[in-house]
Amino acid sequence: MTRAAVIAGVGGHVPQRVVTNDELAQRLDTSDAWIRTRTGISRRHVVDAGTTTSDLAVGAGLRALKSAGTDGADLVIVATTTPDRPCPATAPAVATRLGLTDVPAYDVAAVCSGFLYALQAGAASVTSGVAERVLVVGAEAFSTILNPEDRTTSVIFGDGAGAILLRAGTREEPGAVLDMHLGSDGSMADLITVRGGGAEERSRGGEPRPEDRYFRMDGRAVFFTAVRRMAQSSRTVLARTGWEVTDVDRLVAHQANTRIIHAVAEQLGLPPERAVLNIDRVGNTSAASIPLALADATADGTLAAGHRVLLTAFGGGATWGSATLTWPTLQAG
Ligand code: COA
Repeated sequence: MTRAAVIAGVGGHVPQRVVTNDELAQRLDTSDAWIRTRTGISRRHVVDAGTTTSDLAVGAGLRALKSAGTDGADLVIVATTTPDRPCPATAPAVATRLGLTDVPAYDVAAVCSGFLYALQAGAASVTSGVAERVLVVGAEAFSTILNPEDRTTSVIFGDGAGAILLRAGTREEPGAVLDMHLGSDGSMADLITVRGGGAEERSRGGEPRPEDRYFRMDGRAVFFTAVRRMAQSSRTVLARTGWEVTDVDRLVAHQANTRIIHAVAEQLGLPPERAVLNIDRVGNTSAASIPLALADATADGTLAAGHRVLLTAFGGGATWGSATLTWPTLQAG
């Protein structure tokens, strides 16, 4: 028996306020029809004033712990692009609010690939024996970094959080994280970026440029690079696991755009109906997108015990990654 990290709980949390495409079309030069056909998104959830990433992370974390039937974890990792503050990290506050006193807690920043980066760190902590139970959270108050006047980003992103609890188990058990593949290419840093707020802006001196406060993306370039990298990475991890593409029961890809997800499935030769989709209801929630999709698909039965699951993501950095796992018997928290 080989020691492995096994998924023991899953939970999602979205803020209450729903913003429809029609609501966006009232203030931006866009339409419900454009957004639906180009992205697959119908609505998204957005935080109210005063609600932050840690609030969403705590909501998802509580549900994942409940789903696992425990109130304990000995490591907390929060993947986010929208930390409550540039300093300190958001994870210690999340751990404390979950009642996880004195445990190590840190953030991971890999934008839309953040959850998979955090999953690898969490799974490696379990397999190495550093931790017995790890709470891995993806959480974003993404609306807080969007330029409300930019129709190319405002229609795509939404707020939310998802979490899983990993426990020590064996590779042979349902729920085991089997294999992972991660990659990055820093020459693509400008493809997806918030220029301001970091050392680059402060060391330059002078007044901050207002436009540098906001998230910017070269959507068309991201589209093609995301499809290529997710397909490549998926093939790599499938080969590591010894699975054929046809062995995959469910593709849970980063919910970037329905067209991107279907293009990845097509490049892999996977029937599109094996792709799990919740983007229509939540939009692109960046680091939260994969765990939120896992929670929603568990709740509605799309994802069931015994399914062989392929996870894949692409995000700013550029970063990308994939994972293979089997789905356990679980109830979403
Ligand atoms: N409403 C109406 N028209 C819009 C629009 C909107 N919200 N946003 C862009 N357009 C316009 C563009 O200005 C362009 O007009 P033009 O042809 O007159 O120049 C036209 O629609 C087509 O733009 P294009 O960028 O080619 O559209 P697209 O089909 O590539 O879709 C995205 C744009 C952003 C939806 C798409 O590129 C995408 O999803 N990219 C990946 C985004 C992503 O998921 N990033 C997160 C990290 S993975």
